[in-house]
Amino acid sequence: MIDKFEKQVITVTGIVVALFIFSIVYAMKKYDANVPECLPYDKAYEEPKVNKLDESTYQVFAVAKMWSFEPSQIYIPAGSEVDFFLTSKDVVHGFNIADKNVNMMAVYGAINKTTVKFEKPGVYKIVCHEYCGIGHQNMEAEVIVNYPESK
Ligand code: CUA
Repeated sequence: MIDKFEKQVITVTGIVVALFIFSIVYAMKKYDANVPECLPYDKAYEEPKVNKLDESTYQVFAVAKMWSFEPSQIYIPAGSEVDFFLTSKDVVHGFNIADKNVNMMAVYGAINKTTVKFEKPGVYKIVCHEYCGIGHQNMEAEVIVNYPESK
């Protein structure tokens, strides 16, 4: 036999959980917020690189370490959709892309993934926004959209 108050607590908890889930789904639809995924760890992601899947689809294996991101410059054409796979070689770092809804953590032994669409040409700064030691403020990279490929 469930106590009357227990029943109330269960009901309220259910409503609150439903509200949380609704808020996340609403933000994803309305504000194009992307909820990062956690992927099973794979050593392959420790090798920084940019994979071109087709003209407008890219994969970036981003590696954070004290105190830089690799690759540090990512060249893509405007209108591209990019899957970022993020990991760290040492401590916890942040991964924030200016003007985009991206706020991820780079964690050793873990792979976080998010997808970002770059419609407008420009240079999008990536910064570390988790204090990670003496060189923290120097940790940055950039996504260069619609600029000629070089290097
Ligand atoms: Cu890496 Cu702060």
